[in-house]
Amino acid sequence: MTPSPSVEPRKTNLLTDTDHLSPEPASATDLRPVSQEETGSRSDRQSFSGKREAEPDRKERNDRIGSVESSDLVKPVGLIQPSAQPLLSVRGLQKHFPVRSALGRRTGSVQAVNDVSFDIYPGETFGLVGESGCGKSTTGRAVMNLIEPTGGEVWYEGQDLAKLKGARLKNMRSNIQMVFQDPYTSLDPRRRIGYAIEEPLHIHRRGSKNERTERAMSLLERVGFRPDQYYRYPHEFSGGQRQRIGIAKALALEPKLLICDEPVSALDVSIQSQVINLLEEIQQERGLSYLFVAHDLSVVRHIADRVGVMYLGGLVEQAPTDELFGNPLHPYTQSLLSAVPIPNPRVKKERVVLSGEVPSPLNPPSGCTFHTRCPFAMDVCRSVVPERVQASPGHEVQCHLYAT
Ligand SMILES: Nc1ncnc2c1ncn2[C@@H]1O[C@H](COP(=O)(O)OP(=O)(O)OP(=O)(O)O)[C@@H](O)[C@H]1O
Ligand code: SF4
Ligand SMILES: [Mg+2]
Repeated sequence: MTPSPSVEPRKTNLLTDTDHLSPEPASATDLRPVSQEETGSRSDRQSFSGKREAEPDRKERNDRIGSVESSDLVKPVGLIQPSAQPLLSVRGLQKHFPVRSALGRRTGSVQAVNDVSFDIYPGETFGLVGESGCGKSTTGRAVMNLIEPTGGEVWYEGQDLAKLKGARLKNMRSNIQMVFQDPYTSLDPRRRIGYAIEEPLHIHRRGSKNERTERAMSLLERVGFRPDQYYRYPHEFSGGQRQRIGIAKALALEPKLLICDEPVSALDVSIQSQVINLLEEIQQERGLSYLFVAHDLSVVRHIADRVGVMYLGGLVEQAPTDELFGNPLHPYTQSLLSAVPIPNPRVKKERVVLSGEVPSPLNPPSGCTFHTRCPFAMDVCRSVVPERVQASPGHEVQCHLYAT
């Protein structure tokens, strides 16, 4: 069985910035959220400017989930039609982590990811956003098979990854690589960076020693270093430089899909734009697809073609980026986006602050998991899990307000 695509890919002309590897850092930036009017979305953007807010901690991030404008709610307008073949199809993905007592008895499970489905098409970027702890990283790790899913399916180029074994699985895995939030964790401090980049080639027995070294040097050049920096150690580089080395390492096996888990969150604001612009250039050159996990909406709006919104392990809404930011349907998405200020002082929003804490994934609420905080919750929301509704082409929402 091959899963049918559920959404239509959006084709965009990607813009590049050849200045991104300038040794001079970008000019000082103001630390505040950036609105649509300032950044533009993927379809009309220039290179990422680095105008960003300061990195908040987990509690601050969650406290920001602010308010909802009830008049923004609209009814669905039609069903979507499938089109191109996806590179990656995730269907009903689940990951539950067992919780055990001191005696080793299983006492429950953390429902980190629950029934998540999405597609990623060749050459596109699918952004995943949501509060801290909602399951973004777990989704990325389960897609990559770094952790075994509890349930669901991950299809890559029409093949079910769970059914692949041995050399075929190894080969398939080389097509999906990861860029981590903290590249230091993936670089051995005792090894020269050239070796780190060569390592995947060595593991997959690609090329001779000389060919591997040549490839590592050429990748280093591609991400903005001199070939002789091959012989340096990770501690000799800054955070942004290490992230570029991490990207070179991820590219070594010529993957088709990169899972980027908060690749710029740990970087200085002025360096973030360099890394984002580099990722965009590389995507354009090589036709790569990205699963781009982030909590920063301005970054996701800039880089993603389509965006999925996660809440408590579930994917509650997904849509093309412009559509999601211009017409958010799920009350949670609306509250998430309302944290982005509107620069026009004449535009007033009726704000409804979300009440209550994020429930524990150990014991998620019944029915719609958002009902404990949703200002529009109805009786049915407390007991019945909402179905996914195609609100418009490519726009999917899981909420009883849109039930047909
Ligand atoms: N190995 C693990 N064992 C038990 N629970 C885990 C494990 N990994 C993640 N979790 C839990 O799963 C849930 C989802 O975690 P995950 O790291 O995927 O969230 P996230 O959306 O990436 O958050 P953040 O934005 O902070 O990175 C959290 O409640 C987390 O505590
Ligand atoms: S299903 Fe109900 S509780 Fe959930 S988001 Fe929709 S209205 Fe709110
Ligand atoms: Mg994470």
